[in-house]
Amino acid sequence: MLIRHRAGWELPESAATPESVYLDRRQWLAGAAGLVAGTALPGLARADTTAPTSDLYPAKRNEAFTLDRPLTEEKLAASYNNFYEFGMSKDVAGAAKRLVARPWTIKIDGLVEKPFEIDADELIRKMGVEERLYRFRCVEAWSMAVPWTGFPLRKLVELARPQSGAKYIQMQTFLDPRMAPGQGQRWLPWPYTEGLTLAEATHDLTLMVTGIYGKPVPNQHGAPLRLIVPWKYGFKSVKSINRISFVAEQPKTFWEGLQASEYGFWANVNPEVAHPRWSQASEQVLGSRERRPTLLFNGYAEQVAGLYKGLEKERLWA
Ligand code: MTE
Repeated sequence: MLIRHRAGWELPESAATPESVYLDRRQWLAGAAGLVAGTALPGLARADTTAPTSDLYPAKRNEAFTLDRPLTEEKLAASYNNFYEFGMSKDVAGAAKRLVARPWTIKIDGLVEKPFEIDADELIRKMGVEERLYRFRCVEAWSMAVPWTGFPLRKLVELARPQSGAKYIQMQTFLDPRMAPGQGQRWLPWPYTEGLTLAEATHDLTLMVTGIYGKPVPNQHGAPLRLIVPWKYGFKSVKSINRISFVAEQPKTFWEGLQASEYGFWANVNPEVAHPRWSQASEQVLGSRERRPTLLFNGYAEQVAGLYKGLEKERLWA
């Protein structure tokens, strides 16, 4: 994403904690927890980032979700990322190795029958996973075609049992500037948060992603759990989620907090509504020389246009 008032991204050496120091701290904490409990906790003693649910991959493909273009090469998708917690360049895969994605707990709270916390792998196993091929369109006007693995967010909403007053969900990324040096940049409104209406969250296309290219999702794509809403610009698809809150009012998002004049709550893809600084009429297909015309709702209009009936006065496209 391009931000007007900061052109560059320079992290002072002192702001970055070397991984060894960070891991030592975790080991110390895990050791201390073991002493307190009077038992050793070997599972916590090392930052083991292999997914305990890796046996679920590759998951069966759901053939209902088809593409009009070839898949983006895995290597390219994995090396051209936006994950500002780890830096502002596209080349963040190396820095994102610092993300300790396991063990990982997700908190479900707000207007639900009973708030709870659940381990990410327990949740993934409970929900079950499938593979879907989706187009993915960034507001920066590049696009990919990706085989995601995951489960419909609707299933998690059902598990949460929202109260009748819940109209939106807010999703939040972890907050840990030691692990994610980008979060040391105080001018950004950390933690990264995003929101959807309950109707959007329970739409069949809305996917809680746990894997990509037939494997557990790697750190730079938002391990262990990230959202994908394929008819909206990519910034809605929040990575490394650790909290989902059910709320009555439209939640403020990271990008609205940073630059509300350019990035709004709805952010549905529309070729006819330009970003204030560039056109959205076409997109650069990553990995090819091709520029394709952008599709309304990123090609998912038939499935999702009905969600916005009666909301025409809202700023649906930015
Ligand atoms: N989620 C978090 N937590 N931090 C981010 O910087 N970037 C967003 C979105 N989710 C971002 C995020 C943007 S701008 C895009 S385009 C997509 O992630 C990129 O996803 P990818 O790197 O897996 O292709």
